[in-house]
Amino acid sequence: MKTLFGPFSQLLPMTNLPLRGPLSDHQLVLMQEAGILVESGYVLETGPWNSMIASVSEKTEVVSFSQKLVGIPGMIDAHTHICFAGSRAMDYAERNAGTSYLEIAKAGGGILSTVRNTRNANREELVRSMNQRLTSLFHRGITTVEVKSGYGLSVQEELKLLRAIQDAGAAHEVDVIPTCLAAHMVPHDFEGDQKEYLELILSELLPVVQQETLASRFDIFIEQSAFSPFAAKTYLMALASEGFDITVHGDQFTTGGSQTAIDCGAISVDHLEASTDAEIDALSQSTVIPVALPGASLGLGCGYAPARKLLNAGCSLAIASDWNPGSAPQGHLLLQASLLAASEKLSTAETLAGITVRAAAALGAEDRGEIRPGALADITLFPTNDYREILYLQGMMNPAAVIKRGELFRF
Ligand code: NIG
Ligand code: FE
Repeated sequence: MKTLFGPFSQLLPMTNLPLRGPLSDHQLVLMQEAGILVESGYVLETGPWNSMIASVSEKTEVVSFSQKLVGIPGMIDAHTHICFAGSRAMDYAERNAGTSYLEIAKAGGGILSTVRNTRNANREELVRSMNQRLTSLFHRGITTVEVKSGYGLSVQEELKLLRAIQDAGAAHEVDVIPTCLAAHMVPHDFEGDQKEYLELILSELLPVVQQETLASRFDIFIEQSAFSPFAAKTYLMALASEGFDITVHGDQFTTGGSQTAIDCGAISVDHLEASTDAEIDALSQSTVIPVALPGASLGLGCGYAPARKLLNAGCSLAIASDWNPGSAPQGHLLLQASLLAASEKLSTAETLAGITVRAAAALGAEDRGEIRPGALADITLFPTNDYREILYLQGMMNPAAVIKRGELFRF
């Protein structure tokens, strides 16, 4: 069964854009009064509404809109930690009163306090809270979200989280792409060093992840409070040789993570707030996709990743929310991308690419992020006739509807 959707006052398919480097708004394909023909969840064709509606066959369902709408590819949040229990409001208050993130971590708070709360929650409770978070993302126009484990930090607890992530994804319209972040930190109750903890993950968690296909991606936090570049490298190389995609939390407070990501052939390196010209230069000579996480900068009250410099150096750039209870509790991708764009001077094309087509690349999910024949029919529809209003209103304009795999959800 085919469905024709339209007319869209403007359609921004985000097609024909290079993966890397600066983008100017003149490079955006902008279709006026356009339609989208969909079949079995995928885009068949886009084109002028008038000719599409004139030639539509009787068997095609027509969904016509009476309000002005701008359609962009369903937005993609390529980095979140929404599988958690409890709050870290106390960390936020403490940080604002002068204690640093790393100091709180050293004192046994921070990530480890969320680990305690998350271990106390059962799988069903985690699925329920994730379901609510996925719904709030969906209503803001996110149609694909990456979700990391990382608040279990033992073989059994990480499995509980990964299975909960799988359950939540299976039960929700939003597509969930899981990532194993068992290497978030060495847990307080592990008797051994970093190297031994990572060896345990490889020998005991990895085989179950493979057996149950719980994730095809692994992440590690490379930082003073977490794992050294040296320990990370052995771990990541072992995972890469097993065919997993690698992503890295790198250069958040101190450098070293981005170089490890490059050395290990990672698909992306996320954070980069501490990256200097040397790291930017090295990234520009690699295929690793930088992912800026403005929500973590807002939550911690620190500077943004050097997004402008990365693009000017010829890197790609995705933008994600990092939604987590500690550094980025707010989770509003469009608001965060808009604020990053205003500070870093990113064009509309660069910003929208960062949450659509370039975010898809950071996840290796090339079947989405663009509106073109053969891509998933995931579209976010904003109630406006000028696409520039989407960022101008800094996340305050909510989508009127979302098309997910060809199905229309009106909000
Ligand atoms: O991406 N930096 C490491 N992980 C998360 C924070 C997790 C937490 O503080 O709970 C991040 O910012
Ligand atoms: Fe993160």
